[in-house]
Amino acid sequence: MTDLNRRDFLKMSGAAAVSINLPDAPTAPTAPQAPKAPQAPISLVRIGMVGIGLQGGSHLENFLKSPGCRVTAVCDIREERTTWAQQQITAAGHPSPAVFARGPRDFERLCETADLDLVFTATPWEWHVPVMLAAMKAGRHAATEVPAAMTVDDCWAIVESAEKHARHCVMMENCNYDRPEMAVLNIVQQGLLGEVLHAEGGYLHDLREIKFEKKDEGLWRRAWSRKLDGNPYPTHGLGPIANCLDINRGDRFDYLVSMSGPSRGLHDWAREHFPEGAPERSERFVLGDVNTSLIKTARGKTIVVQHCTNLPRPYSRIQTVQGTKGIYEGYPNRLYIEGRGTPHRWTDLAAVRDEFDHPLWKAIEKQAAGAGHGGMDYIEDYRLIQCLREGTPTDMDVYDAAALSAVVELTMQSTTKRSRAVDVPDFTRGRWRTNPRLKISGDLSA
Ligand SMILES: NC(=O)c1ccc[n+]([C@@H]2O[C@H](COP(=O)([O-])OP(=O)(O)OC[C@H]3O[C@@H](n4cnc5c(N)ncnc54)[C@H](O)[C@@H]3O)[C@@H](O)[C@H]2O)c1
Repeated sequence: MTDLNRRDFLKMSGAAAVSINLPDAPTAPTAPQAPKAPQAPISLVRIGMVGIGLQGGSHLENFLKSPGCRVTAVCDIREERTTWAQQQITAAGHPSPAVFARGPRDFERLCETADLDLVFTATPWEWHVPVMLAAMKAGRHAATEVPAAMTVDDCWAIVESAEKHARHCVMMENCNYDRPEMAVLNIVQQGLLGEVLHAEGGYLHDLREIKFEKKDEGLWRRAWSRKLDGNPYPTHGLGPIANCLDINRGDRFDYLVSMSGPSRGLHDWAREHFPEGAPERSERFVLGDVNTSLIKTARGKTIVVQHCTNLPRPYSRIQTVQGTKGIYEGYPNRLYIEGRGTPHRWTDLAAVRDEFDHPLWKAIEKQAAGAGHGGMDYIEDYRLIQCLREGTPTDMDVYDAAALSAVVELTMQSTTKRSRAVDVPDFTRGRWRTNPRLKISGDLSA
């Protein structure tokens, strides 16, 4: 176990004793702000990729197809992955990247020595923050896979670093860019659901087989199910509904309560799939198979967020958005807008897609075809590069990364304290009141 892992593990397992003592949000911001104002445009964005496993490899392929960027450095603890990346990059006709494969902290050398604008990490969860802090300290923008951080302290650390170094720090929440989610955002931003009062999201995905694999996520993800009871992976469900509720841009998460049921699924799976005497059969898990949390926003709205990755079930992110004039529900995708369609009956989203498709999806559909997770991963990567090239604020900023990721530790705190209400820090320090509403451009001209 590395020092970092041990520190995080101790923090996690002692969470019941951890108390968060944060100042109330001031009415006027006192701290510097991470880049929101226009930055100098970067004509060709040079990217250093850290962690080139399943998801990192998929991002790499997207960047090779995206205009205006080059992957100039690659880092992984497994040399076969840096070699694979090098082959992909040169096969695409780009110069061979600098390679960093000298162990788990070699990303520090990448951040300090390579010619880079952006460091992009798709490492296991425990490495996201160290990589981003090293990147920002060295003057690079940072982007990470989800969740950005696993503790509230680490959420503050990325906020403070982004402010101090005036660098972007973006959590790559690909579900914000999925076609139905973007259509819902479009519907909400046109006011068709009225005032949004309630939303629900989740990550309900049977990962039992993946968690027990002897490769890829099996090497690290199951370990979190042994040390964390709460919601370790809230952002896929929360990201899109947070955008519909203008979180950090007119509203913010205020407090939450969380509750987990028993932990059975991984134990049962191990007993069914491993022979007598196999060490997996005696592993002990603490992550409740179903974790449900309620978040109250400062404007009084309510959110339900759920996590379930240890039980047999079809995939869902729930995706409910309910307003004063109508409602959208995902899985299957349907909506009801008062005064349209048949009263009291759902309309299939597919039947009205042409009307509500987000302009970005209409513009980019062909380029995104075939990319990871139905194309949404290409679109999120495209948007990140587009914003850096234009010098405009990124869609998601460090405050979003912190607010969404803080839910990991806060749900754990609430769960382990009989579902007591836990305050969500205001990472924007009051700016949520005046920040403008998110606008995701559909203009591909840059
Ligand atoms: N957004 C999504 O839909 C989605 C899907 C899958 C995974 N993810 C996220 O992507 C990240 C990676 O997941 P994955 O499925 O690709 O896992 P993976 O295990 O396939 O890949 C992780 C890679 O990081 C490398 N690595 C580990 N420690 C490192 C270090 N210190 N320095 C450099 N490289 C290191 C590993 O060798 C491996 O190649 C996780 O944060 C996960 O939550 C997101």
